[in-house]
Amino acid sequence: MNPQHPSSAQAPDWAIEAQGLRCALNQRVVLDGLDLRIGVGQFVGVFGANGAGKTTLLRTLLGLQPLQSGRLRLLGRDGVALRTQVGYVSQRDPVGADSFLRARSYVATAWQGERWGLGLGQSAQRAQAVAAALRAMDAADLADRSLDALSGGQRQRVRIAQALVNPVRMLLLDEPLSNLDPQAQQRILHTARRLCTEHGITVLMTAHDINPLLPHMDQVLYLAGGKGRLGTVDAVVNGPALTALYGLPMAVARDAGYVFIHPAGGFMPEESAHCGHDHAHAPGGDGA
Ligand SMILES: Nc1ncnc2c1ncn2[C@@H]1O[C@H](COP(=O)(O)OP(=O)(O)O)[C@@H](O)[C@H]1O
Ligand SMILES: [Mg+2]
Repeated sequence: MNPQHPSSAQAPDWAIEAQGLRCALNQRVVLDGLDLRIGVGQFVGVFGANGAGKTTLLRTLLGLQPLQSGRLRLLGRDGVALRTQVGYVSQRDPVGADSFLRARSYVATAWQGERWGLGLGQSAQRAQAVAAALRAMDAADLADRSLDALSGGQRQRVRIAQALVNPVRMLLLDEPLSNLDPQAQQRILHTARRLCTEHGITVLMTAHDINPLLPHMDQVLYLAGGKGRLGTVDAVVNGPALTALYGLPMAVARDAGYVFIHPAGGFMPEESAHCGHDHAHAPGGDGA
């Protein structure tokens, strides 16, 4: 949500340009030599096994985790972007302590300042920013509900609205679809798509299952072994590309519009146990 778009003359072509990103957590290298180029207004799904580094990548883009080496340009600037330009919804839902708040107040807690130009008082500016963010997430009707009275999908839409209350140009959503039913997932995906198309916001969304995102994404990013592969679904989600990334023979089956990613030759028994309910989830992580 950004009613004050920069003119196209100022706008960068790339939301994210990364070369040779290397990130370590407690001396364990998680990302190693990751190259990315993501255009402004793209919707990118980020996938990979548990522990592949999806959360680490988002936190690195936000500047919450240091870069060991490599070059990063965000929204046309070196280093991390201004925090007010990047909205973030973390994988873990920290709402718990705030659950007594009404959605409107919860969204307002993230507001950082002026958005609508001069002439309105601070509280009026904030109220307008909150209303616009809730509207963008189809959550205007939830404004006066307390958080603990919301369903999982409603709560997730309010969390994303909070991330939109400042004039962000990029939105990083870490597993926002987890534990939601398909209808609630699709509602979030539609709103995310609209933010890209209508507001030019670049969205990175991590997810376990690629299938719900297929109709909405522009590109996919698969992470494995510290490396990544970015491109269209057709370019990345195929046996040869995933075999090169995972360093294991991988196969992709398609059926009725769904994709199933699995080791070529079938799952080993222990892998079946790990992936049994999620065929789009390829091996390669540490099961963390
Ligand atoms: N605070 C931390 N300290 C050390 N290692 C961590 C920490 N957080 C995550 N890791 C490890 O870093 C790797 C990447 O984790 P993460 O980015 O959370 O992966 P994903 O989001 O893809 O599941 C995993 O091996 C995980 O165990
Ligand atoms: Mg994660």
